[in-house]
Amino acid sequence: MGAVAIDCTLGQAGHARQILERITPDGRLLGIDRDPSAVGAGRESLAAFGSAAVVVHGAFSELGNIAKQNGFDPADLILFDFGLSSTQVDDPERGFSFRAEGPLDMRMDPTTGLTAAEVVNEYEPAELERILRQYGEERWARRIVEFIVARRPLRTTRDLAQAVEAAIPRRAWPRDIHVATRTFQAIRIAVNDELGEIETGLSAALSTLKPGGRMATISFQSLEDRLVKSFFNVESKDCICPPQQPVCTCGHRATLRIITRHPTRPTEQEVAANPRARSARLRVAEKI
Ligand SMILES: C[S@@+](CC[C@H](N)C(=O)[O-])C[C@H]1O[C@@H](n2cnc3c(N)ncnc32)[C@H](O)[C@@H]1O
Repeated sequence: MGAVAIDCTLGQAGHARQILERITPDGRLLGIDRDPSAVGAGRESLAAFGSAAVVVHGAFSELGNIAKQNGFDPADLILFDFGLSSTQVDDPERGFSFRAEGPLDMRMDPTTGLTAAEVVNEYEPAELERILRQYGEERWARRIVEFIVARRPLRTTRDLAQAVEAAIPRRAWPRDIHVATRTFQAIRIAVNDELGEIETGLSAALSTLKPGGRMATISFQSLEDRLVKSFFNVESKDCICPPQQPVCTCGHRATLRIITRHPTRPTEQEVAANPRARSARLRVAEKI
């Protein structure tokens, strides 16, 4: 029997193709993406692998059901490559980028859920401020929200970027990133419930792996990486009682062995070839 692999973030199927080339003819791969256009492109790009590649539209928080329904439970390998694909960022119509004018959408799955316009224009200011602070780690959250609220309704990515530019004094603009980067990141995370997806997806992956199977995650920002690190830490411990407690009462048993004690970073050559990979961090753990 060949390896059973699941790519939870199929995107343009670059990883999926690499995996299939290594596990076929005996192995098979299930590719999942919540973006219908990635699913279409993925199916096409993996067509040459025939029935060894199965592509499904869905969110990876549904991994447990999707894997069972398609005969991929238990799996040997589960991969998550979090965040957006270049295709999504570069398409102004998707509303992810402050660099090009487009509608305030930001949904990875444009068939369902709230748009960024609804979040920006309809959320209570206090909730919007919490989102910017928590998901964007934005120090200027309160002022940005004041400027957003004064300019409602905001319709385009340009409107949002201009509200942020007006809110933050020029002397406080960050040197290394666009002044609206944190705001866009925060709203995107809220629109797609990205952190909730990761928490549920990691637990589902652990249940779906066979003993000795491995999960690998690639994170692009610290909020994602922190969730993975803490999940791996908790699941690799036999006891998770508070350290001051003299006797264990939790009954927790380790289910994972961490393979990458520190995350793997891209090499200089990899960053030169693909600058967007510069902040990537790879973590791998094996199911016990
Ligand atoms: C960084 S890209 C993946 C690129 C891919 N590894 C490749 O080789 O082309 C992330 C992809 O994951 C998808 N995605 C993000 N969150 C998801 C989720 N919760 N469930 C399913 N797909 C998700 C996005 O739509 C996007 O296509």
